[in-house]
Amino acid sequence: KKVGVLISGTGTNLQALIDATMNPTRHIGAEIVLVISNKLDVEGLKRAERANIPTKVLRHTNFSSREEFDEAMHDELVKAGVDIVCLAGFMRILSGAFTRKWKGRLINVHPALLPLFKGTQAQKQAIEAGVRVTGCSVHFVEEDVDAGAIITQETVPIHIGDTVEVLVERIKTAEHRCLSCSVTITSD
Ligand code: GRF
Repeated sequence: KKVGVLISGTGTNLQALIDATMNPTRHIGAEIVLVISNKLDVEGLKRAERANIPTKVLRHTNFSSREEFDEAMHDELVKAGVDIVCLAGFMRILSGAFTRKWKGRLINVHPALLPLFKGTQAQKQAIEAGVRVTGCSVHFVEEDVDAGAIITQETVPIHIGDTVEVLVERIKTAEHRCLSCSVTITSD
């Protein structure tokens, strides 16, 4: 299966997916054919370039509406022959039209055990709630943000005194495992 990855930043999840898909012993059954970023010069783009994966920057600020921006992304994904779209730290909400077109073929990684702690500050919310276990989820994307069927989850402990920064990194290591595993499942 051909995978398109959407990013906005550092791209450690993208890196995990690159490593997994390029490891011949893993039999992931997927190949990354395109990485799209809505931000210029982010580390994730450099990771793709180092792996010789085609990249495209589409800056949302250059489009007059969310729908137009999403349409441009859709066109690039189709042109590249993408079967599965993977959101890996893509910090834009997608339009209903886009999520409908990719229904069942669009997955996202979220840094909490959904349906708990939705939104952009999931790790901070978990610390403030005082829970001692949180985690990550990979799920199909539906029009409602952070909804949709869950594909894989992994738990991550929260230790007393953890800062948000420490927790963000601990959850990321779990995200990296879950994302590759979910792409394998979705590629079947
Ligand atoms: C991850 O924690 C992901 O769950 C969230 O944004 C972060 C992206 O990290 N949506 P990276 O760019 O893959 O390093």
